[in-house]
Amino acid sequence: MTSKRVFIAGHRGLVGSALARRLQRERDLELILRSRDELDLTDQRAVRDFFARERPDQVYLAAARVGGILANSTRPAEFVQENLVIQSNVIDAAYRAGTKKLLFLGSSCIYPKHAPQPMTEDCLLTGPLEPTNEWYAIAKIAGLKTCQAYRKQFGLDAICAMPTNLYGPGDNFDLAASHVLPALIRKFTEAVDSGAGEVEVWGTGTPRREFLHVDDLADGCVFLMQNYSDLPPVNVGWGEDVSIGELARAVAEATAFTGVLRFDTSKPDGTPRKLLDVSRMRALGWSARIPLAEGIRDTAQWYRRERSAKKAT
Ligand SMILES: NC(=O)c1ccc[n+]([C@@H]2O[C@H](COP(=O)([O-])OP(=O)(O)OC[C@H]3O[C@@H](n4cnc5c(N)ncnc54)[C@H](OP(=O)(O)O)[C@@H]3O)[C@@H](O)[C@H]2O)c1
Repeated sequence: MTSKRVFIAGHRGLVGSALARRLQRERDLELILRSRDELDLTDQRAVRDFFARERPDQVYLAAARVGGILANSTRPAEFVQENLVIQSNVIDAAYRAGTKKLLFLGSSCIYPKHAPQPMTEDCLLTGPLEPTNEWYAIAKIAGLKTCQAYRKQFGLDAICAMPTNLYGPGDNFDLAASHVLPALIRKFTEAVDSGAGEVEVWGTGTPRREFLHVDDLADGCVFLMQNYSDLPPVNVGWGEDVSIGELARAVAEATAFTGVLRFDTSKPDGTPRKLLDVSRMRALGWSARIPLAEGIRDTAQWYRRERSAKKAT
């Protein structure tokens, strides 16, 4: 039996590296991986040539410009432009090269700010977006619609997974660009190391968020690639949320921080609650497995190892 050729766009990122770990366990499969230096996905000519040459059977589109509230609000043009170009180049080149199936990574950020909770896939485009990430969201909505358009007009088997907030090994711990969970892990680890008695947490601590370990997401994406071929997107989440205050206390425990948490209420909270309805994914036969406390502990340990290794070099 000939092995499937599978291209992971963005294999060095949080999601892409988890997909690579997960797909390495599959049999009869050949992974095609290219770093940004080898293949800049914003370069249409290069992307078309690459697909024409490599002819991957399956594509996981996990390359994107991603970031937190600060990065979104200070670099809106880059968030819109780069994401639109990357996804449009990859989806079109996949179609032209005869790729059999493509999975596009959407995001729960693309649902309306005041969507009823938990959010079903049907709430897409039913209300205004959260202004702090609207640039990213608009580009991602266009990506999802591009997949649907290529399916309708050209029969490309392009599907869309909508993950909730992700975390895990390989996350971005740069405070200027990171999401809430890696930012907290870094702040608490640094406080433990420096002996600081207090850690500042952005916002009031009351917004509620859902977190999914990236290894669960990768497993869910492979499941969808093997078991789902349809137009509607599919939410991939844990199915329960926690308040940012509870999250901060869980990180404090995982990092052995025993000092005081100070909530900086001058910083924006963002959407009050964000929880995905995961009934569609569960009905297909898949559920996440890694509990939050266990995932935070593993990720905090990973970050500490990386930090020690960097200090040693
Ligand atoms: N992280 C989350 O919480 C989350 C939640 C929901 C959905 N998602 C979605 O999941 C996908 C992946 O996110 P992530 O968190 O894994 O992001 P990430 O860690 O920033 O990884 C993105 C990857 O894309 C690559 N990339 C960016 N621009 C490129 C270009 N021009 N050419 C080639 N490669 C390029 C990056 O390459 P370099 O390594 O060279 O920078 C990186 O490997 C995105 O579509 C995102 O919207 C993420």
